[in-house]
Amino acid sequence: MNALPIPQFRVFTGEQVDAAVRDGKQAILDAVEAAYRAHHAGRTVNPESQFLRFPDGHRNRIIALPAHIRDDGDGGGGVTGIKWISSFPENIELGMPRASAVLILNDATTGYPMACMEASIISAARTAASAISALRCLARGASAQRLRVAFIGAGVIARHVAECMPLAGLCIDEVTIHDLNIDYAASLATRIQTHVGYDAHTEASLEVAIRQADVVVFTTTAPAPHIDNPDWFSHCPLVLHLSLRDLAPSIILESYNVVDDIDHCLRALTSLHLTEVATGHRRFVTTSLPHLLCGGEPPARDRPIVFSPFGLGILDIAVGSWVYECLAARQAPVPRFFFDMQRA
Ligand SMILES: NC(=O)c1ccc[n+]([C@@H]2O[C@H](COP(=O)([O-])OP(=O)(O)OC[C@H]3O[C@@H](n4cnc5c(N)ncnc54)[C@H](O)[C@@H]3O)[C@@H](O)[C@H]2O)c1
Repeated sequence: MNALPIPQFRVFTGEQVDAAVRDGKQAILDAVEAAYRAHHAGRTVNPESQFLRFPDGHRNRIIALPAHIRDDGDGGGGVTGIKWISSFPENIELGMPRASAVLILNDATTGYPMACMEASIISAARTAASAISALRCLARGASAQRLRVAFIGAGVIARHVAECMPLAGLCIDEVTIHDLNIDYAASLATRIQTHVGYDAHTEASLEVAIRQADVVVFTTTAPAPHIDNPDWFSHCPLVLHLSLRDLAPSIILESYNVVDDIDHCLRALTSLHLTEVATGHRRFVTTSLPHLLCGGEPPARDRPIVFSPFGLGILDIAVGSWVYECLAARQAPVPRFFFDMQRA
């Protein structure tokens, strides 16, 4: 009998992941879109995310997102893994990011964990790629138009989305940033001007920021809807509702709603979930991004379009696997990580 090779385990730091992600935005967008297409084709296993909450800190949570993408017949065995991501919103008062994460990839043949990597960057990169993918699908035909973009919430996710915006291939004229904290809005405006080259400024009024934008990106940490006036959206903007809980059912019901996966999106007190509870049906969900990427027709532009992505674990492992392929050859495995390999 041939001796089995000892499984190898590698660790990738945030610095290494950041270097790969920074130079690989287009490849990450491709990996995310391929994962969505695999989802549409039924080649994924993406169980509900598990939320760990704490009795003494109701806004804090740690979420587990296990996932698997079956290979498409090329014999690669597919991709399997899990992201374990904490959200502690008060971290930002200490000057630290809200979210921190690791991602584990598992070997397709043995199931052994083969890598652990810093994953807050992967998570932000896949979220931004998913937003850009939606923008490309839903703003089709607007490439010659000069667009105004508003960011509501000026944190880490807004920064990643802004830095990926050029991949959308749109003509972005002006970026407006609104945040409850004006200093956060001002630093994002400076960052966008310097690093992305768009004309960016802050806006103290939430209503003005929304009313004057063609594309509105919600990246707040609002735990419950704080916007309930459909008239603010009467100009039919494209809304990337990444933070999932900003809009009241009255706005959801006046819009075309695009999800990543309907069963995932209609839970955990998202705006869509609250709308389902209020109406007793799901007919307000128009289509999904995986469907659009597989040739589905985008909604008309006679109402606001709201894209609400729950954030699927398949995106994390798709990007994690891409990072692994970029870095593994240059990174020695951790010596003797799997140690006792005797069965008897
Ligand atoms: N859908 C997805 O796939 C996905 C993935 C990752 C993160 N997210 C969500 O994106 C959101 C932003 O994450 P982040 O890491 O950038 O957080 P962050 O804490 O870095 O930034 C959030 C910002 O929103 C601001 N804010 C909070 N409530 C606001 C309000 N009512 N109006 C205006 N500004 C407000 C805060 O001051 C802060 O600057 C979170 O809700 C997170 O859960 C979604």
